Amino acid sequence: MPLKPDFEPVLFKNRRGDRPATFDEYRQGGGYEALLATVGKKSPEEVVRMVTAAGLTGRGGAGFPTGRKWAGVPASAPYPRYVQPNTDEMEPGTFKDRILVNADPHLVIEGIILCAYAVKAQRGIFFIRPSYESDAQLIERELAVARAAGFLGSGILGSDFSFELSVHRSAGRYICGEATAQVNAIQGLRPNPVKAPGAHLTEAGLWGRPTVVNNVETLASVPHILTRGPEWYKSLAATPTGDGTKLYCVSGKVARPGCYELPMGTRLSDIIYEHAGGMLPGGTFKACLPGGASTAFMPETLFDIPMDFPSLKAVGHHLGTASMIVFDKNTCLLAATINIIRFFVRESCGWCTPCREGLPVILDILERIEAGEAGEADVAWLETMTRQLHHAYCAFAPGAAAPIEGLLRHFRDEVMDHLDGRGCPFGAPELADKPGAWHLPKGGRP
Ligand SMILES: Cc1cc2nc3c(=O)[nH]c(=O)nc-3n(C[C@H](O)[C@H](O)[C@H](O)COP(=O)(O)O)c2cc1C
Ligand code: SF4
Repeated sequence: MPLKPDFEPVLFKNRRGDRPATFDEYRQGGGYEALLATVGKKSPEEVVRMVTAAGLTGRGGAGFPTGRKWAGVPASAPYPRYVQPNTDEMEPGTFKDRILVNADPHLVIEGIILCAYAVKAQRGIFFIRPSYESDAQLIERELAVARAAGFLGSGILGSDFSFELSVHRSAGRYICGEATAQVNAIQGLRPNPVKAPGAHLTEAGLWGRPTVVNNVETLASVPHILTRGPEWYKSLAATPTGDGTKLYCVSGKVARPGCYELPMGTRLSDIIYEHAGGMLPGGTFKACLPGGASTAFMPETLFDIPMDFPSLKAVGHHLGTASMIVFDKNTCLLAATINIIRFFVRESCGWCTPCREGLPVILDILERIEAGEAGEADVAWLETMTRQLHHAYCAFAPGAAAPIEGLLRHFRDEVMDHLDGRGCPFGAPELADKPGAWHLPKGGRP
């Protein structure tokens, strides 16, 4: 289905392709008007109400309602309060935040300042992946420009609202993207996730103070919601269950991989065929991971699903980061899963047993199946071990379980075709002969 003729990009309004939009270009397109119309003119509570009414869901992967998160900072909470914009983006297949920051840094900066105003925060710490060094430098440069314009610092726009924002470069582990691990990382502690019953980061995060962690795509939506209103923002979605627009990443066996801003809830088939140019010549769609490596393989039968959080949930899938990795019929999904699980084994923070000890065992089983050195009992063992990942401490391990679960749910025949000496029907490279430091002895059992 083609885009509505009146569809206008919101997050990529100023995207040029060859360079970031400058401060002046951002201002000429109406940039910082939301801030000018808000600081000292709307109450923080009204900003939270508008974001809530817009139905804005977090774009970092979990789809948590942003207004509800911001309202979770208790009115009586102590100061200073913090905002922690998240650009860790180590989820394989996901590159939207980098493109967004690079296209329009001031849209992101304005969204962060508005969030700070809404939750009455004084400090912001922009957490960024170390391999995004050029983007970190870009943000630092543009922060100085925003400060010189009076949009950052003390007494912003002559009000009593003061806010400073600085950049923190990650040490470079996937788990540092998880909000509570990130709080530890910024404080110089071991970056393992932290769960304290009943305690939320919005009450006690950085240095024990209220901290709002949001993905940068989430934050960049805020200026538009405040300028044009919650109803307008909601109406941008393709479905009643969606909100606004969404940055969809597409990679894998498609003709035009890239990052596309489309109405939230655009159908999967439209994203692939209308926008990403369809499959590569000669390729036929077999499956895709809809939202990065920590989501489950989706088969062709779900090809027409609207890509929003509730629609995918209704069929037992997750939108995640809405970063589709597309596979064709010539690709061995078991080999692809091994590739993904190697990533999760390497990135496990080691804090809890099901994840730290379970993932290497799972990888060993997968590699033996791929090599034709396994039987049906190993598939049953794989299922048992994968179930155990749901008993781990944080959402990392259930994320690692997802591609395996999708494989066994939708492509079980393909797995079974590898058993009992047959090996890979696709002739995928011999993955089992490339052991890493985490491997059990070949064929080893726990
Ligand atoms: C292992 C793991 C990695 C994550 N990585 C990121 C990340 O790189 N960026 C991000 O925004 N959220 C990431 N998240 C989600 C964050 O914990 C958090 O939910 C999110 O930053 C909140 O922002 P949002 O409400 O705007 O989505 C990750 C979660 C897990 C479990
Ligand atoms: S599930 Fe994995 S990443 Fe999460 S706390 Fe346990 S070991 Fe660490």
